[in-house]
Amino acid sequence: QWTTASIVEEQIARIREQIGEDGRAICGLSGGVDSAVAAALVQRAIGDRLTCVFVDHGLLRTGERAQVERDFVAATGVNLVTVDARERFLGALAGVTDPEQKRKIIGREFIRVFEQAERDLKAQGDYRFLVQGTLYPDVVESGGGTGAANIKSHHNVGGLPEDLQFELVEPLRLLFKDEVRRVGLELGLPETIVHRQPFPGPGLGIRIIGEVTADRLETLRAADAIAREELTAAGLDRDIWQCPVVLLADVRSVGVQGDGRTYGHPVVLRPVSSEDAMTADWTRLPYDVLERISTRITNEVPEVNRVVLDVTSKPPGTIEWE
Ligand code: XMP
Repeated sequence: QWTTASIVEEQIARIREQIGEDGRAICGLSGGVDSAVAAALVQRAIGDRLTCVFVDHGLLRTGERAQVERDFVAATGVNLVTVDARERFLGALAGVTDPEQKRKIIGREFIRVFEQAERDLKAQGDYRFLVQGTLYPDVVESGGGTGAANIKSHHNVGGLPEDLQFELVEPLRLLFKDEVRRVGLELGLPETIVHRQPFPGPGLGIRIIGEVTADRLETLRAADAIAREELTAAGLDRDIWQCPVVLLADVRSVGVQGDGRTYGHPVVLRPVSSEDAMTADWTRLPYDVLERISTRITNEVPEVNRVVLDVTSKPPGTIEWE
């Protein structure tokens, strides 16, 4: 029978076998559940021969970097290196509007940062392995499952560069999110990490429809922080799977704010309910919560003058807009 404890035991044995007695691994931490659980598993298997690398790619939400540096390190005592790669990613994304192209650029730049980290860590030993928190649905959606269509290239599957030098370690590749959460709890990770809502590795880069720029990121970050604050205050965090906030950066509409006319951008709220992200339903959020989010965003974020609600299930919509 597949108990969580037996999944953990089996994966630890496999990881030890793959990495060997003195191999070393880098694990990219995104701040999300999957990479945190993958890192904790590998740490169990190889101890401090694991070094985690957190890439601040500038596409993060408010507070994310501090949370990884504080909570995850406190929970695991893992070796953590933070890399400030904001300029690198923004530079690589300049002028790019196509969703798949964005995903591939972000996937490639992640690997370039890990390669640099590997060179920086050379003095400690040879870091040949790269741990990723890839889940089964990521593989399927990236076209990796047998006969599956490529719906979108997840940054750590279809977005990997062809000249990848690392050998991948992906202990969650056959699991769904609910199983990953159980594995995380079994490994002693705190609820604040294990029950976080999913956030994609490409971050806000795939939630700006249009070119990603520093100003647009700032606008979206502000709107997203308000939506998250209000959903948390309303006690809804565990009822929704996730709620992307999407900036329609190339769309403008006329509004009236304060004394005058505005010509600003809409943001879309995309609250969804799901079991495994393969299918999803739009969440019927209470109107008073929607009203508070809308009022606050249009009052507090000057570039946004309209808040709209996405009422599309998956299929036909995907959860993220890109
Ligand atoms: P979609 O948009 O395909 O999303 O319905 C399904 C789930 O996957 C997350 N997602 C990603 N996660 N890298 C990730 O780590 C990615 O490239 C990626 N793309 C989508 C999305 O947030 C949702 O939970």
